[in-house]
Amino acid sequence: MSGRVDHPLSEEHVRELLKRVKFPGFSRDIVSFGIVKTVSITDNNDVTIALHVVTRDQAVPQQIQRDVEAALRGREGIGRINVQMTAQQPPQQGQVPMAGSGGEPTRPQIAGVKHVIAVGSGKGGVGKSTVAVNLACALTKLGQQIGIMDADIYGPSVPKMMGTTSRPTITDEKLDPVENFGLKMMSMALLLDNDSPVIWRGPMIMKAIQQFSLAVNWGELDVLLVDLPPGTGDAQLSLAQTIALDGGVIVTTPQDVALEVARRGIAMFEKVNVKILGIIENMSYYVCPHCGKHDDVFGHGGGKQEAARLEVPFLGEIPLFSDIRICGDKGLPIVVAAPDSEPAKAFTKCAESVLKQLA
Ligand SMILES: Nc1ncnc2c1ncn2[C@@H]1O[C@H](COP(=O)(O)OP(=O)(O)O)[C@@H](O)[C@H]1O
Ligand SMILES: [Mg+2]
Repeated sequence: MSGRVDHPLSEEHVRELLKRVKFPGFSRDIVSFGIVKTVSITDNNDVTIALHVVTRDQAVPQQIQRDVEAALRGREGIGRINVQMTAQQPPQQGQVPMAGSGGEPTRPQIAGVKHVIAVGSGKGGVGKSTVAVNLACALTKLGQQIGIMDADIYGPSVPKMMGTTSRPTITDEKLDPVENFGLKMMSMALLLDNDSPVIWRGPMIMKAIQQFSLAVNWGELDVLLVDLPPGTGDAQLSLAQTIALDGGVIVTTPQDVALEVARRGIAMFEKVNVKILGIIENMSYYVCPHCGKHDDVFGHGGGKQEAARLEVPFLGEIPLFSDIRICGDKGLPIVVAAPDSEPAKAFTKCAESVLKQLA
């Protein structure tokens, strides 16, 4: 029972007011970021709001608490306001043990998933999804249990690259991931009709990330890779609020302009205290499919220099190789289609570097 019969105060009304409170430093509100856990209202219209925020910055929960109180105070029909704020540090690198090393993860927010890695870039078209999919396949070949979450709802391309577009089934009110090449996958593209307009905006990204993190039967995984949408950092924050993230991988191309974008991508992870696991340079050099000759089309090596300059690990370089695109279009990642090819070996090297960073 809640609310008096004459002036019942509804939870929706309180949540609407809370939507006016922005997450400090971001353009989105605390409700869509999932900070508001519960809203309860007594018969006297006293309001208790439970908030939980994951951050390393102590000023953030304080600021949110003040803003929440200010948003509700003096509003008609609202009695006493009680804000219960809990803040939690994001997990530090190394707190979550690797498979087989014994011990329990400190914050196993997705039951059974040991590591969550976000794959990001400052802009689209650098081959982020291609890298995520081939990295996932390479990690699987290295004996890891892998899942891939396609959170790029502006351009969800993972299902096509993975050759699986069947609709997921539902078990125990959770979505079952689709499986192919020994790994599990979930994407918004599997839930949409082919021709439904992609009018999703920021809040939808957050919803999708929350649902894909917590409402999918991922089962036992060593690593869940998340293909993030390029953009403002909302997705990074949303993900960091929802689940324990072990780190971010930045995909870049070697040109200066793209490196600038990589810097932005890194800044987005840092803003939400997500550790950078490293940089992968894609389209690093050209391999002629006819003669196998190498050519540094975009001035190879920029990613490595940039990683050194920013003091983040360099995880490896992937050549520009037409078969990578052809395989992606066919839905058969090159790591699976041609495991002995030069690009497949390059992806495997990156996968080994990622595991080394997690160890
Ligand atoms: N190393 C590469 N060599 C050749 N083609 C590539 C390579 N990486 C990506 N591509 C192609 O470039 C296009 C964009 O890649 P995609 O992974 O969709 O980028 P993003 O996810 O960053 O938008 C795709 O057609 C893909 O097949
Ligand atoms: Mg993509």
